[in-house]
Amino acid sequence: MKIAIIGGGKMVTQMVTGWKNSGVQMDTLGVWLRNNEKQHEFAAAHGVTSIDSLESLKDYDAVMLGIVPNALAEMAVQLRHYLTEDHIILSIAGGVSIQDIDDLFDHHQKIIRMMPNTPVAVNSGIVAMSCNDYVSQEEMDTVTQMMTQLGVVKWIDESLMPIMPAIAASSPTFVYVMIEAMADNAVAAGLDRAAAYQLASQMVIGAGKMMLESGEHPAVLKDQVTSPGGSTIQGVMKLEEKGFRDAISKAMDEITKYN
Ligand SMILES: NC(=O)c1ccc[n+]([C@@H]2O[C@H](COP(=O)([O-])OP(=O)(O)OC[C@H]3O[C@@H](n4cnc5c(N)ncnc54)[C@H](OP(=O)(O)O)[C@@H]3O)[C@@H](O)[C@H]2O)c1
Repeated sequence: MKIAIIGGGKMVTQMVTGWKNSGVQMDTLGVWLRNNEKQHEFAAAHGVTSIDSLESLKDYDAVMLGIVPNALAEMAVQLRHYLTEDHIILSIAGGVSIQDIDDLFDHHQKIIRMMPNTPVAVNSGIVAMSCNDYVSQEEMDTVTQMMTQLGVVKWIDESLMPIMPAIAASSPTFVYVMIEAMADNAVAAGLDRAAAYQLASQMVIGAGKMMLESGEHPAVLKDQVTSPGGSTIQGVMKLEEKGFRDAISKAMDEITKYN
């Protein structure tokens, strides 16, 4: 599938890096940036095609909107002229619904809303997607195949897309904050910084793998580590006292408010 990407900021760069790592043929991806010089630099750096005229969009199956949400209306005015009903619009814009895209693009037919997270750059990401009824099963399968190169793909109902940043796309930052806090504690106790980051990061990967591969309820895995009168349960009780669960839940609510 050939995808023309509009925009080349942080998220697009992570996706393109993931595709490159996974061996996707890079010339099937094209990029258009509002700044021509930056566009050529981006294309050369990642081995993707530089889209010098929007007329070339006719050579692509899909057009991915990778720009900031508040630039979409202005961009839509430029793009509308070049899009046909055969194009699939892939939007990664946070907080922008399929209905919003439909309105901006003069009721274009095929729209897929996507919410990727940054670990797509290391092919361990999540790409949550919803689409309208004009996207065929075959097109969904083709897009799934492309996004699977980046990690786990989850098709969900459009009504649930606003919570995807909180559960998957913004929440890696929670983990980074936790890793930093844990490393600071270990460094304060004398462990070197690199080892502290390595151990805390590997712990996160391992705990996630245990959840996915054991199929156990998280409380069962927690109970397996908390021996009676042991140190781990003391730590868990301190987390409860400090409102860890509530802090996570409130932080997720806050993210969802903006999506
Ligand atoms: N970062 C994430 O974790 C994440 C996750 C999921 C979805 N998203 C979504 O991804 C999109 C891009 O986010 P980002 O984090 O990659 O932002 P970013 O690094 O700031 O990149 C923004 C991109 O938009 C372009 N742009 C800005 N204003 C424009 C305009 N008026 N016309 C044309 N292009 C314009 C920028 O071009 P210049 O370089 O010329 O300024 C740049 O290529 C957003 O819609 C965001 O909601 C981000």
